[in-house]
Amino acid sequence: MILSPSLLAADITKLDRELDKAVEMGAKYIHIDIMDGIFVPNKTWDPSLLSSFPKNCSLYKDVHIMVADPKVQGKAFALAGADNVTFHLEACHSKEEIIDIINDLHSFGIHAGLSLKPNTDVKEIIPYLPYLDMVLVMSVEPGKGGQAFIPSALDKIKTLREEIDKNGLPCKIEVDGGINETTGKQCIDAGVDILVAGSYLYGHDDYVARAKALFDHA
Ligand code: DX5
Ligand code: ZN
Repeated sequence: MILSPSLLAADITKLDRELDKAVEMGAKYIHIDIMDGIFVPNKTWDPSLLSSFPKNCSLYKDVHIMVADPKVQGKAFALAGADNVTFHLEACHSKEEIIDIINDLHSFGIHAGLSLKPNTDVKEIIPYLPYLDMVLVMSVEPGKGGQAFIPSALDKIKTLREEIDKNGLPCKIEVDGGINETTGKQCIDAGVDILVAGSYLYGHDDYVARAKALFDHA
């Protein structure tokens, strides 16, 4: 299991310290939620956030863009130093557009992920699996942290695990929203590769022990 702590729940005014905490937790990734106030009501950061990361930061920058214009924003975050950009299927209008954005991200030398919201049928994302490095199952409505896990994400993870394994694809499965030691275990049992967790980890003094509880199930 790979852990991707979500910066959304961190104290961004102490960025270096919060990134160090992710390393202490044993995380290899850092999850960065980008919201535009259009695709989702809230707004977060622009690509300059990535430029303010310490140069020696070893964490893989796992950027989740909840935006209405993924082609433009995807490029901007790729050029700013993202290692992966995950965009939303629901923000796109055609299969051609989705493939075009995936190709763009690869042409910038980074990984490409595609996400689906809780009410989107998992079947809609299956045709793209061969082109993707990551598929992101949202287990809450995108837009804010601290929401309760929606259990239907588990069946989606199982379906994707089967499909990816059956076809020997390199695509990783990530889950995002409402992850704690109970729901994290359920997702690991369902076959997830990457757990995103925000409010379960950040803002608690025992963040290392909390992360360990997630790894103990892996
Ligand atoms: C929600 C974001 C999540 C959020 C998860 O739109 O995509 O990454 O940070 O927060 P928790 O772990 O608190 O549900
Ligand atoms: Zn996210």
